[in-house]
Amino acid sequence: MDRLKNKVAVITGGGAGIGRATCELFAEEGAAVVVAERDEAAGREVVQAIVARGGRAHFVQTDVAKEASIQGMVADAEKAFGRIDILVNNAAVFVLKGIDASVEEWREILDVNVVGPALCAKYCVPVMRRGGGGAIVNLGSISSVIAQPQMVTYNTTKAAIANMTRCMAMDLAGDNIRVNAVGPGAVWTQIVQRLTSEAGMDRAAADADSEWGGAHLLKRIADPREIAYPILFLASDEASFITGSLLMVDGGYTAR
Ligand SMILES: NC(=O)c1ccc[n+]([C@@H]2O[C@H](COP(=O)([O-])OP(=O)(O)OC[C@H]3O[C@@H](n4cnc5c(N)ncnc54)[C@H](O)[C@@H]3O)[C@@H](O)[C@H]2O)c1
Repeated sequence: MDRLKNKVAVITGGGAGIGRATCELFAEEGAAVVVAERDEAAGREVVQAIVARGGRAHFVQTDVAKEASIQGMVADAEKAFGRIDILVNNAAVFVLKGIDASVEEWREILDVNVVGPALCAKYCVPVMRRGGGGAIVNLGSISSVIAQPQMVTYNTTKAAIANMTRCMAMDLAGDNIRVNAVGPGAVWTQIVQRLTSEAGMDRAAADADSEWGGAHLLKRIADPREIAYPILFLASDEASFITGSLLMVDGGYTAR
């Protein structure tokens, strides 16, 4: 219940999927949660759900592709809860393109998936330093470490996240700020639901399909909460000697 007692966590893209599951789990574990989300209705709904269960949460409409929006979010978060101990860089877009991707498509995905997390860290770190330290957890992916068909854009951003994590871990260790990443396999969120339903599959069929659930050693797709738990671990003091790591949470996908 109290694994994040007295901690304040900023979670980007907290309105849906893995981000929402992480907001809810963090609140259950005692954190005050800042839901930094572009979609106002989705973000407010998550805050309401947390508050209804007795948790602490605050919505800040945030577009991580815009520096001024991030700066405003960090100031608002500090005003609401007085400190920031944890940043979860979760928000991302799924521009799934191969070699023919346009300049606009590249800029969109680089802005949200790479520059966004970098700037969220940039503006959260001074607040963490004032509080004596902190933890950053970035969302990588199996796509950080493998090639996948027609996914040059997305996989490039997720590979960048893996090395951003290591470089920031090096630069921030002296500030008592740990930086780690998780690398999920396929998770049952809107992008996976959309792609599998376009291919005519329901959840059971997607779990059994050799390119979806069947590609993981555990032969299924993950639920968002199964990713939220490893994020919780890395964000908590339980992971006090872990920094610079990419923890694969992929049902054995990359173990083969
Ligand atoms: N779903 C998967 O199979 C999977 C696998 C590996 C890694 N991941 C990673 O996990 C993270 C979450 O994925 P998900 O599937 O839960 O995503 P999702 O699309 O379900 O949720 C993402 C949330 O981020 C928000 N968002 C998007 N752009 C934003 C922006 N510019 N500013 C603020 N908020 C923004 C969206 O509104 C949405 O609420 C991503 O980093 C993704 O790359 C997902």
